[in-house]
Amino acid sequence: MDKKIIFSAIQPTGTFTLGNYLGALQNWVSLQDEYNCCYSIANMHALTVRQQAKDLRANTLNAYALLLAVGVDPQKSIAFIQSHVKCHAELNWVLSCYTQFGELSRMTQFKDKSARHPENVNAGLFTYPVLMAGDILLYQADFVPVGIDQKQHLELARNIAQRFNGIYGDVFTVPDGYYPKLTAKVMSLQDPTKKMSKSDDNPKSYITILDPPETIVKKIKSAVTDSEALVAYREGKDGVNNLMSIYSAVTGRTLEQITEEFAGHGYGDFKQKVGDALAESLRPIRERYAQLMKDRAYLEECYRDGARKAEGVSQRTLDKVYKKIGFLAR
Ligand code: TYM
Repeated sequence: MDKKIIFSAIQPTGTFTLGNYLGALQNWVSLQDEYNCCYSIANMHALTVRQQAKDLRANTLNAYALLLAVGVDPQKSIAFIQSHVKCHAELNWVLSCYTQFGELSRMTQFKDKSARHPENVNAGLFTYPVLMAGDILLYQADFVPVGIDQKQHLELARNIAQRFNGIYGDVFTVPDGYYPKLTAKVMSLQDPTKKMSKSDDNPKSYITILDPPETIVKKIKSAVTDSEALVAYREGKDGVNNLMSIYSAVTGRTLEQITEEFAGHGYGDFKQKVGDALAESLRPIRERYAQLMKDRAYLEECYRDGARKAEGVSQRTLDKVYKKIGFLAR
């Protein structure tokens, strides 16, 4: 039987956070053997926030190198840069004519982002989920490994696919989300009721996957917990729950094992262990990243090859769509 298809993408924002890594990237890597995977650097999505051209260019290359550094293997999976494959822009237009204004108005990320950037509430920010739906549907993806913050966008992609299929027959695979068990929403270290995010003003609230080990340990040590001095995963213990989830994701230990490991220990000890384990698990990524950044020719070869493969797959879907909707063939 043919392998099922995975698609996901990430915006090039300079570096990736621990949230990006444990919410999405770790799954991207582990799914590569069992599935046909396509992963993309969503530089077109990044344009919804004002960018300096030279920064976007550099961040896109850095993000691509990071993708390989975390373990996406360009021999096994298709790893490409969104703007290199024109089908994404083309399908975006078509799908935007099959998406309702009302649906887009309900997107919570649009509401949040437009509140945070009132000076630049551009049309792209509003139609962003349509571009994302097109990304996924072009590859006929069965599963989309993402964090929980993308769930609403994914639901929209499903609705668009079902609506389109309802009119034209089975054109698109209707995708399902694929979420990690404990780390679908990694929380801020300073306010564990909020999502960890790089746009947070307080850099102590997030860890990036390129942070040096000392910084990682320091940030974990200053993470907000509670006054109970009990390592247990329970409602109301958001800070501890978050650290336990992170520890579980990097060590593979279950919550029960972690509770047992730290029975009778204080938070100081617990945080030290979490910090050390995390720093150790990110070390090889940082080292591979440094190596890859020295070999620009290799990165270029990989992303060109990725674009060629992605184009092949996505063009087939786009051709089918154009035929179905009645665009006269050239
Ligand atoms: P982006 O670039 O904001 O985030 C990339 C991935 O990281 C996940 N994530 C988190 N997971 C858990 N905890 C957190 N604190 C956390 N922060 C971020 C996100 O859920 C995401 O999976 N629109 C997308 C990019 C995109 C895309 C796509 C994704 C474009 N086209 C097609 C899937 C399919 C975005 O901005 O993700």
